[in-house]
Amino acid sequence: MDDTLIHYLRGMEAMLKQIEACQNEIRQFTAQDAEALEQFRIRFLGVKGIIKSMMGEMKLVPVDQKKSFGQVMNSFKLLAEEKFESEKSRLSSGSSSEQRDIDITLPGHPLSTGSRHPVTLMRNRIVEIFQRLSFTVAEGPEIEDDWHNFTALNLDEHHPARDMQDTFYLSTDPAILLRTHTSNVQIREMERTQPPIRIICPGRVYRNETISARSHCFFHQVEGLYIDTNVSFADLKQTLYFFVKEMFGDDVNVRFRPSYFPFTEPSAEMDISCMLCKGEGCAVCKRTGWLEILGCGMVHPNVLKNCGIDPETYTGFAFGMGIERPALLKYGITDIRLFSENDVRFLEQFTGA
Ligand code: PHE
Repeated sequence: MDDTLIHYLRGMEAMLKQIEACQNEIRQFTAQDAEALEQFRIRFLGVKGIIKSMMGEMKLVPVDQKKSFGQVMNSFKLLAEEKFESEKSRLSSGSSSEQRDIDITLPGHPLSTGSRHPVTLMRNRIVEIFQRLSFTVAEGPEIEDDWHNFTALNLDEHHPARDMQDTFYLSTDPAILLRTHTSNVQIREMERTQPPIRIICPGRVYRNETISARSHCFFHQVEGLYIDTNVSFADLKQTLYFFVKEMFGDDVNVRFRPSYFPFTEPSAEMDISCMLCKGEGCAVCKRTGWLEILGCGMVHPNVLKNCGIDPETYTGFAFGMGIERPALLKYGITDIRLFSENDVRFLEQFTGA
């Protein structure tokens, strides 16, 4: 072999190695951005790029090798071109088509966030007012025994409120019932701890009543209890005055009427002046100008005794109100059944925390 041929073969070998290395590099290449892709193009496919300059070597290749060298170069070039095209379309689909697909002038899709139930809104408002007077929330079972719902509350065995008309009893065990008021929570709390006790008890209660626009077989109550030394009827009135002003505003009048509850003595019912007719008399207040909103009184000594609290040392007051009635008034709803029918068109009208 003469020197020129040896030189030539060494050159070919080096060139094939270089092609192989370039091909590996091309296969692994991904362009970060348009600039990197342009660098790639210049390096491999540009007028002064690797492929062009290797093609220039063609003339040095002996005639019988030209064909196979040409094939190697072609597939090298094809690889670089395909890579360039595929990276180009990948980059453009990533950025500009995003811009193309989004029409920022289109109106957005409204997110439906849901809203709280009007009874929940009203309960939260009531609870929040009493929390400002340091009452804390206490809860208890809706399925209750006779003791906590009646007997401990000084309702003797033949009291009319125990009548089957009013109370849902368990058919298999008449000592178990659905609570008719949240006073059961007050009993449980008095049994559990000694005074001072200052609690507010919101919850669902059940009464066996015919369902109509005005009444339902279940509804919600908030009851309150405050027991300490020297608690008087004046404290009860002052607490409820504060509540009414916060809840219904300064220009609402309040009156107490003597009443009777087995668990309080003395007992009263509290009315507020009708906010719809301003006391003039309308259909909602049945022409009286007043709306009855709660029952209250000083906790009966028997109730304290039943719960292990000494009535000689402690006194206290209790009150209880429905939630649905004030909610009907506040929102101008005419049928109490709407509260439990789960009609979204009704429910989504209420806003607030
Ligand atoms: N428990 C009574 C009711 O359900 C309300 C009430 C509570 C009255 C406390 C007086 C004192 O109607």
